[in-house]
Amino acid sequence: MIRKLLKPQLLTFLALFGLVVLSSALADEIPYEGLKKCKGCHKSQFQSWRQTAHGNAFESLQAGVKEEAKVKAGLDPEQDYTEDKDCVGCHVTGFGVEGGYEIDDPSKYTINVGCESCHGPGSEYRRLHRKAADKYEKTKETTPRQILADAGEEYEFIERCKSCHMNYKGSPWPGVAEPYTPFTPEVDPKYTFDFDQDIRDKEAMHEHFKMEGMFTGPPLPPFHEEFQNAAKPISKE
Ligand code: HEC
Ligand code: HEC
Ligand code: HEC
Ligand code: HEC
Repeated sequence: MIRKLLKPQLLTFLALFGLVVLSSALADEIPYEGLKKCKGCHKSQFQSWRQTAHGNAFESLQAGVKEEAKVKAGLDPEQDYTEDKDCVGCHVTGFGVEGGYEIDDPSKYTINVGCESCHGPGSEYRRLHRKAADKYEKTKETTPRQILADAGEEYEFIERCKSCHMNYKGSPWPGVAEPYTPFTPEVDPKYTFDFDQDIRDKEAMHEHFKMEGMFTGPPLPPFHEEFQNAAKPISKE
Protein backbone atom coordinates (compact mmCIF):
# COMPACT_ATOMS: atom_id res chain seq x y z
CA MET A 1 0.00 0.00 0.00
CA ILE A 2 2.72 2.43 1.01
CA ARG A 3 4.84 1.09 -1.83
CA LYS A 4 2.46 2.54 -4.40
CA LEU A 5 3.43 6.00 -3.21
CA LEU A 6 7.08 5.45 -4.10
CA LYS A 7 8.36 6.40 -7.54
CA PRO A 8 9.26 3.33 -9.65
CA GLN A 9 12.92 4.44 -10.05
CA LEU A 10 13.25 4.76 -6.31
CA LEU A 11 11.67 1.36 -5.87
CA THR A 12 14.16 -0.24 -8.28
CA PHE A 13 16.98 1.52 -6.50
CA LEU A 14 15.75 0.28 -3.15
CA ALA A 15 15.16 -3.22 -4.52
CA LEU A 16 18.88 -3.44 -5.26
CA PHE A 17 19.54 -3.22 -1.56
CA GLY A 18 16.97 -5.87 -0.83
CA LEU A 19 13.70 -5.86 1.00
CA VAL A 20 15.28 -5.70 4.43
CA VAL A 21 16.55 -2.20 3.81
CA LEU A 22 13.31 -1.22 2.08
CA SER A 23 11.20 -2.31 5.01
CA SER A 24 13.39 -0.61 7.57
CA ALA A 25 13.50 2.61 5.50
CA LEU A 26 9.71 2.67 5.51
CA ALA A 27 9.51 1.67 9.15
CA ASP A 28 11.72 4.57 10.15
CA GLU A 29 9.09 7.05 8.94
CA ILE A 30 6.94 5.94 11.87
CA PRO A 31 7.75 8.12 14.91
CA TYR A 32 9.73 6.79 17.85
CA GLU A 33 8.16 7.11 21.23
CA GLY A 34 10.60 5.95 23.88
CA LEU A 35 10.14 3.10 26.30
CA LYS A 36 7.68 4.72 28.73
CA LYS A 37 4.77 2.62 27.44
CA CYS A 38 6.79 -0.54 26.62
CA LYS A 39 8.15 -0.83 30.13
CA GLY A 40 4.70 -0.83 31.75
CA CYS A 41 3.56 -3.90 29.81
CA HIS A 42 6.95 -5.66 29.55
CA LYS A 43 8.44 -5.26 33.04
CA SER A 44 10.49 -8.46 32.87
CA GLN A 45 12.26 -7.50 29.64
CA PHE A 46 12.69 -3.92 30.87
CA GLN A 47 14.30 -4.96 34.15
CA SER A 48 16.61 -7.36 32.35
CA TRP A 49 17.51 -4.79 29.65
CA ARG A 50 18.49 -2.26 32.32
CA GLN A 51 21.33 -4.58 33.36
CA THR A 52 22.69 -5.00 29.81
CA ALA A 53 25.41 -3.16 27.87
CA HIS A 54 22.67 -1.57 25.71
CA GLY A 55 20.75 -0.42 28.79
CA ASN A 56 23.85 1.41 30.05
CA ALA A 57 25.38 2.54 26.76
CA PHE A 58 25.01 6.27 27.42
CA GLU A 59 27.16 6.15 30.55
CA SER A 60 30.14 5.11 28.41
CA LEU A 61 30.16 8.64 26.95
CA GLN A 62 30.87 10.25 30.35
CA ALA A 63 34.34 11.51 31.28
CA GLY A 64 36.33 9.02 33.33
CA VAL A 65 34.26 6.00 32.25
CA LYS A 66 35.87 3.13 30.26
CA GLU A 67 39.14 5.05 30.20
CA GLU A 68 41.29 2.20 28.98
CA ALA A 69 39.03 1.42 26.02
CA LYS A 70 38.89 5.11 25.07
CA VAL A 71 42.66 5.53 25.10
CA LYS A 72 43.05 2.43 22.94
CA ALA A 73 40.60 3.88 20.39
CA GLY A 74 42.40 7.26 20.33
CA LEU A 75 39.76 9.11 22.41
CA ASP A 76 40.37 11.46 25.34
CA PRO A 77 39.29 9.68 28.56
CA GLU A 78 38.93 13.04 30.38
CA GLN A 79 36.48 14.42 27.84
CA ASP A 80 32.69 14.46 28.29
CA TYR A 81 31.18 13.07 25.08
CA THR A 82 27.53 13.03 26.25
CA GLU A 83 26.57 16.05 24.09
CA ASP A 84 28.80 15.22 21.15
CA LYS A 85 26.70 14.58 18.02
CA ASP A 86 29.47 12.35 16.66
CA CYS A 87 28.96 9.95 19.58
CA VAL A 88 25.42 10.17 20.90
CA GLY A 89 23.62 8.58 17.89
CA CYS A 90 24.61 4.97 18.62
CA HIS A 91 24.34 5.25 22.41
CA VAL A 92 20.67 6.37 22.47
CA THR A 93 17.33 5.50 20.79
CA GLY A 94 16.10 7.12 17.55
CA PHE A 95 18.67 9.92 17.37
CA GLY A 96 17.88 12.50 14.69
CA VAL A 97 14.42 11.11 13.86
CA GLU A 98 10.92 12.07 15.02
CA GLY A 99 10.25 11.18 18.63
CA GLY A 100 13.83 10.04 19.22
CA TYR A 101 16.56 11.33 21.53
CA GLU A 102 17.57 14.99 21.27
CA ILE A 103 20.77 16.46 22.69
CA ASP A 104 19.02 19.75 23.56
CA ASP A 105 16.02 18.04 25.15
CA PRO A 106 17.19 14.71 26.55
CA SER A 107 14.50 12.24 27.67
CA LYS A 108 14.99 9.37 30.09
CA TYR A 109 12.79 7.27 27.80
CA THR A 110 15.09 7.46 24.78
CA ILE A 111 18.46 7.54 26.53
CA ASN A 112 20.57 4.37 26.03
CA VAL A 113 20.03 1.78 23.28
CA GLY A 114 16.37 1.09 24.10
CA CYS A 115 13.60 -1.23 22.96
CA GLU A 116 12.87 0.61 19.72
CA SER A 117 16.53 0.53 18.60
CA CYS A 118 16.01 -3.19 17.94
CA HIS A 119 12.23 -3.68 17.77
CA GLY A 120 11.60 -0.62 15.59
CA PRO A 121 9.80 2.69 16.26
CA GLY A 122 6.84 1.76 18.42
CA SER A 123 4.23 4.52 18.26
CA GLU A 124 1.96 2.44 16.01
CA TYR A 125 2.59 -1.22 16.84
CA ARG A 126 2.37 -0.73 20.59
CA ARG A 127 -1.32 0.19 20.20
CA LEU A 128 -1.82 -3.08 18.32
CA HIS A 129 -0.22 -4.96 21.26
CA ARG A 130 -2.86 -3.49 23.55
CA LYS A 131 -5.71 -4.27 21.13
CA ALA A 132 -4.51 -7.84 20.65
CA ALA A 133 -4.22 -8.34 24.41
CA ASP A 134 -7.76 -7.03 25.02
CA LYS A 135 -9.15 -9.27 22.29
CA TYR A 136 -7.25 -12.30 23.58
CA GLU A 137 -8.42 -11.72 27.13
CA LYS A 138 -12.06 -11.50 26.08
CA THR A 139 -12.26 -14.16 23.36
CA LYS A 140 -8.92 -16.09 23.31
CA GLU A 141 -8.69 -15.04 19.67
CA THR A 142 -5.15 -14.54 18.38
CA THR A 143 -3.86 -11.77 16.06
CA PRO A 144 -1.68 -12.30 12.96
CA ARG A 145 1.87 -11.08 13.57
CA GLN A 146 2.03 -9.62 10.06
CA ILE A 147 0.03 -6.54 11.12
CA LEU A 148 2.80 -5.70 13.62
CA ALA A 149 5.45 -5.94 10.90
CA ASP A 150 3.28 -3.67 8.70
CA ALA A 151 3.16 -1.15 11.58
CA GLY A 152 6.96 -1.00 11.78
CA GLU A 153 7.86 -3.78 14.20
CA GLU A 154 11.22 -5.32 13.30
CA TYR A 155 11.66 -9.07 12.83
CA GLU A 156 14.97 -9.29 10.98
CA PHE A 157 17.07 -7.22 13.41
CA ILE A 158 20.38 -7.62 11.55
CA GLU A 159 20.38 -4.32 9.63
CA ARG A 160 19.56 -2.40 12.81
CA CYS A 161 22.46 -4.01 14.67
CA LYS A 162 24.80 -3.30 11.78
CA SER A 163 23.81 0.37 11.58
CA CYS A 164 25.63 0.82 14.89
CA HIS A 165 28.06 -2.11 15.07
CA MET A 166 29.32 -2.15 11.48
CA ASN A 167 29.38 1.59 10.90
CA TYR A 168 33.11 2.24 10.92
CA LYS A 169 35.61 3.58 8.41
CA GLY A 170 36.48 0.83 5.91
CA SER A 171 33.59 -1.39 6.98
CA PRO A 172 32.24 -3.90 4.44
CA TRP A 173 28.66 -2.94 5.43
CA PRO A 174 27.05 -1.12 2.44
CA GLY A 175 25.16 1.40 4.59
CA VAL A 176 28.29 2.91 6.13
CA ALA A 177 28.18 6.72 6.73
CA GLU A 178 29.67 9.20 9.20
CA PRO A 179 29.75 9.52 12.15
CA TYR A 180 31.63 6.25 12.62
CA THR A 181 32.16 4.14 15.70
CA PRO A 182 35.72 4.48 17.03
CA PHE A 183 35.60 0.84 18.21
CA THR A 184 36.59 -1.11 15.12
CA PRO A 185 37.99 -4.63 14.64
CA GLU A 186 41.29 -2.91 13.83
CA VAL A 187 41.40 -1.30 17.30
CA ASP A 188 40.70 -4.72 18.83
CA PRO A 189 39.37 -7.90 17.18
CA LYS A 190 36.85 -8.18 20.02
CA TYR A 191 34.88 -5.37 18.37
CA THR A 192 34.13 -7.58 15.34
CA PHE A 193 30.37 -7.97 14.91
CA ASP A 194 29.07 -11.51 14.42
CA PHE A 195 25.26 -11.49 14.31
CA ASP A 196 24.67 -15.18 15.10
CA GLN A 197 26.96 -15.04 18.09
CA ASP A 198 26.09 -11.53 19.31
CA ILE A 199 22.31 -12.02 19.21
CA ARG A 200 22.91 -14.69 21.91
CA ASP A 201 25.21 -12.53 24.07
CA LYS A 202 23.82 -12.44 27.61
CA GLU A 203 25.71 -9.27 28.63
CA ALA A 204 24.18 -7.24 25.82
CA MET A 205 20.74 -8.77 25.14
CA HIS A 206 17.83 -8.88 27.59
CA GLU A 207 16.70 -12.26 28.86
CA HIS A 208 13.77 -13.94 27.13
CA PHE A 209 10.43 -14.65 28.75
CA LYS A 210 7.73 -17.08 27.74
CA MET A 211 5.01 -15.56 25.59
CA GLU A 212 1.37 -16.54 25.83
CA GLY A 213 0.96 -16.76 22.07
CA MET A 214 -1.39 -13.86 21.36
CA PHE A 215 0.39 -13.29 18.05
CA THR A 216 0.64 -16.03 15.47
CA GLY A 217 2.21 -16.73 12.08
CA PRO A 218 5.07 -15.08 10.18
CA PRO A 219 7.34 -13.17 10.23
CA LEU A 220 9.55 -14.65 12.94
CA PRO A 221 13.34 -14.66 13.19
CA PRO A 222 15.07 -18.06 12.87
CA PHE A 223 16.19 -18.00 16.53
CA HIS A 224 12.69 -17.36 17.93
CA GLU A 225 11.93 -20.97 18.81
CA GLU A 226 15.32 -21.51 20.42
CA PHE A 227 14.85 -18.40 22.59
CA GLN A 228 11.28 -19.32 23.57
CA ASN A 229 12.28 -22.90 24.42
CA ALA A 230 14.84 -21.57 26.90
CA ALA A 231 12.66 -18.64 28.08
CA LYS A 232 11.82 -17.90 31.72
CA PRO A 233 8.30 -17.40 33.01
CA ILE A 234 7.27 -13.69 33.18
CA SER A 235 7.52 -12.28 36.67
CA LYS A 236 4.19 -10.81 37.73
CA GLU A 237 5.31 -7.97 39.97
C1 HEC B 1 21.62 2.26 18.37
C2 HEC B 1 22.86 1.50 18.19
C3 HEC B 1 22.87 0.02 18.47
C4 HEC B 1 22.03 -0.94 17.98
C5 HEC B 1 20.84 -0.79 17.07
C6 HEC B 1 22.54 -2.21 18.49
N1 HEC B 1 23.63 -2.01 19.29
FE1 HEC B 1 24.69 -3.42 20.26
N2 HEC B 1 25.78 -1.98 21.21
C7 HEC B 1 25.69 -0.63 20.95
C8 HEC B 1 26.58 0.09 21.84
C9 HEC B 1 26.77 1.59 21.89
C10 HEC B 1 27.21 -0.87 22.65
C11 HEC B 1 28.25 -0.63 23.74
C12 HEC B 1 27.56 -0.32 25.01
C13 HEC B 1 28.55 0.20 26.03
O1 HEC B 1 29.26 -0.64 26.63
O2 HEC B 1 28.64 1.41 26.16
C14 HEC B 1 26.69 -2.19 22.21
C15 HEC B 1 27.08 -3.41 22.76
C16 HEC B 1 26.73 -4.64 22.22
C17 HEC B 1 27.29 -5.91 22.61
C18 HEC B 1 28.33 -6.11 23.72
C19 HEC B 1 29.68 -5.81 23.21
C20 HEC B 1 30.17 -6.84 22.27
O3 HEC B 1 30.30 -6.55 21.06
O4 HEC B 1 30.45 -7.97 22.73
C21 HEC B 1 26.70 -6.88 21.83
C22 HEC B 1 26.97 -8.37 21.85
C23 HEC B 1 25.73 -6.21 20.96
N3 HEC B 1 25.78 -4.86 21.23
C24 HEC B 1 24.93 -6.84 20.04
C25 HEC B 1 23.90 -6.21 19.32
C26 HEC B 1 22.95 -6.90 18.49
C27 HEC B 1 22.91 -8.40 18.24
C28 HEC B 1 22.12 -5.95 17.98
C29 HEC B 1 20.92 -6.12 17.08
C30 HEC B 1 19.90 -7.05 17.52
C31 HEC B 1 22.57 -4.66 18.49
N4 HEC B 1 23.65 -4.86 19.29
C32 HEC B 1 21.98 -3.44 18.18
C33 HEC B 1 24.88 -0.02 20.01
C34 HEC B 1 23.87 -0.64 19.31
C1 HEC C 1 28.21 4.32 14.53
C2 HEC C 1 27.86 4.08 15.93
C3 HEC C 1 28.74 4.61 17.03
C4 HEC C 1 29.24 5.89 17.17
C5 HEC C 1 29.07 7.07 16.25
C6 HEC C 1 29.98 5.88 18.42
N1 HEC C 1 29.88 4.65 19.02
FE1 HEC C 1 30.61 4.13 20.85
N2 HEC C 1 30.12 2.18 20.48
C7 HEC C 1 29.39 1.75 19.41
C8 HEC C 1 29.27 0.30 19.46
C9 HEC C 1 28.54 -0.57 18.46
C10 HEC C 1 29.98 -0.13 20.60
C11 HEC C 1 30.17 -1.56 21.09
C12 HEC C 1 31.42 -2.13 20.48
C13 HEC C 1 31.68 -3.54 20.93
O1 HEC C 1 31.89 -3.74 22.14
O2 HEC C 1 31.69 -4.44 20.09
C14 HEC C 1 30.49 1.10 21.23
C15 HEC C 1 31.22 1.11 22.40
C16 HEC C 1 31.68 2.25 23.01
C17 HEC C 1 32.43 2.27 24.25
C18 HEC C 1 32.78 1.05 25.11
C19 HEC C 1 33.99 0.31 24.56
C20 HEC C 1 34.39 -0.85 25.43
O3 HEC C 1 35.34 -1.55 25.06
O4 HEC C 1 33.77 -1.06 26.46
C21 HEC C 1 32.75 3.58 24.52
C22 HEC C 1 33.55 4.12 25.70
C23 HEC C 1 32.21 4.38 23.42
N3 HEC C 1 31.57 3.53 22.53
C24 HEC C 1 32.36 5.75 23.31
C25 HEC C 1 32.08 6.45 22.14
C26 HEC C 1 32.50 7.82 21.91
C27 HEC C 1 33.27 8.69 22.92
C28 HEC C 1 32.06 8.16 20.67
C29 HEC C 1 32.26 9.45 19.92
C30 HEC C 1 33.65 9.89 19.75
C31 HEC C 1 31.34 6.99 20.14
N4 HEC C 1 31.39 5.98 21.05
C32 HEC C 1 30.69 6.97 18.90
C33 HEC C 1 28.83 2.52 18.42
C34 HEC C 1 29.15 3.85 18.20
C1 HEC D 1 19.69 -5.05 21.37
C2 HEC D 1 18.39 -5.40 20.83
C3 HEC D 1 17.17 -5.41 21.71
C4 HEC D 1 16.79 -4.46 22.61
C5 HEC D 1 17.50 -3.17 22.96
C6 HEC D 1 15.53 -4.91 23.16
N1 HEC D 1 15.17 -6.11 22.60
FE1 HEC D 1 13.47 -7.17 23.00
N2 HEC D 1 14.15 -8.70 21.84
C7 HEC D 1 15.28 -8.67 21.06
C8 HEC D 1 15.41 -9.93 20.37
C9 HEC D 1 16.52 -10.32 19.42
C10 HEC D 1 14.29 -10.73 20.77
C11 HEC D 1 13.94 -12.15 20.34
C12 HEC D 1 12.89 -12.12 19.28
C13 HEC D 1 12.26 -13.47 19.06
O1 HEC D 1 12.58 -14.43 19.77
O2 HEC D 1 11.43 -13.56 18.14
C14 HEC D 1 13.52 -9.90 21.69
C15 HEC D 1 12.32 -10.32 22.26
C16 HEC D 1 11.47 -9.49 22.97
C17 HEC D 1 10.12 -9.85 23.41
C18 HEC D 1 9.45 -11.18 23.17
C19 HEC D 1 9.56 -12.10 24.40
C20 HEC D 1 10.96 -12.37 24.83
O3 HEC D 1 11.28 -12.07 26.00
O4 HEC D 1 11.77 -12.89 24.02
C21 HEC D 1 9.62 -8.76 24.08
C22 HEC D 1 8.26 -8.65 24.72
C23 HEC D 1 10.65 -7.73 24.05
N3 HEC D 1 11.75 -8.20 23.37
C24 HEC D 1 10.51 -6.48 24.62
C25 HEC D 1 11.57 -5.57 24.74
C26 HEC D 1 11.49 -4.34 25.53
C27 HEC D 1 10.27 -3.90 26.31
C28 HEC D 1 12.69 -3.71 25.41
C29 HEC D 1 13.15 -2.43 26.08
C30 HEC D 1 13.04 -2.34 27.53
C31 HEC D 1 13.52 -4.53 24.53
N4 HEC D 1 12.81 -5.64 24.15
C32 HEC D 1 14.81 -4.21 24.12
C33 HEC D 1 16.17 -7.62 20.95
C34 HEC D 1 16.15 -6.46 21.71
C1 HEC E 1 -0.65 -2.27 26.55
C2 HEC E 1 0.46 -3.15 26.78
C3 HEC E 1 1.62 -3.17 25.79
C4 HEC E 1 2.39 -2.11 25.38
C5 HEC E 1 2.23 -0.64 25.72
C6 HEC E 1 3.45 -2.70 24.58
N1 HEC E 1 3.29 -4.04 24.47
FE1 HEC E 1 4.49 -5.35 23.51
N2 HEC E 1 3.18 -6.85 23.80
C7 HEC E 1 2.09 -6.78 24.66
C8 HEC E 1 1.43 -8.07 24.69
C9 HEC E 1 0.22 -8.41 25.52
C10 HEC E 1 2.16 -8.93 23.80
C11 HEC E 1 1.86 -10.39 23.47
C12 HEC E 1 2.61 -11.25 24.46
C13 HEC E 1 2.27 -12.71 24.44
O1 HEC E 1 1.76 -13.28 23.47
O2 HEC E 1 2.57 -13.29 25.48
C14 HEC E 1 3.26 -8.11 23.29
C15 HEC E 1 4.23 -8.59 22.42
C16 HEC E 1 5.44 -7.93 22.17
C17 HEC E 1 6.55 -8.48 21.43
C18 HEC E 1 6.56 -9.83 20.74
C19 HEC E 1 5.82 -9.68 19.43
C20 HEC E 1 5.63 -10.94 18.66
O3 HEC E 1 5.67 -10.86 17.43
O4 HEC E 1 5.41 -12.00 19.24
C21 HEC E 1 7.55 -7.53 21.42
C22 HEC E 1 8.90 -7.64 20.77
C23 HEC E 1 7.04 -6.38 22.15
N3 HEC E 1 5.77 -6.66 22.59
C24 HEC E 1 7.73 -5.19 22.33
C25 HEC E 1 7.12 -4.00 22.74
C26 HEC E 1 7.74 -2.70 22.66
C27 HEC E 1 9.15 -2.44 22.18
C28 HEC E 1 6.83 -1.78 23.13
C29 HEC E 1 6.97 -0.27 23.21
C30 HEC E 1 7.25 0.43 21.96
C31 HEC E 1 5.65 -2.53 23.50
N4 HEC E 1 5.85 -3.85 23.23
C32 HEC E 1 4.49 -1.96 24.03
C33 HEC E 1 1.68 -5.67 25.36
C34 HEC E 1 2.19 -4.38 25.20
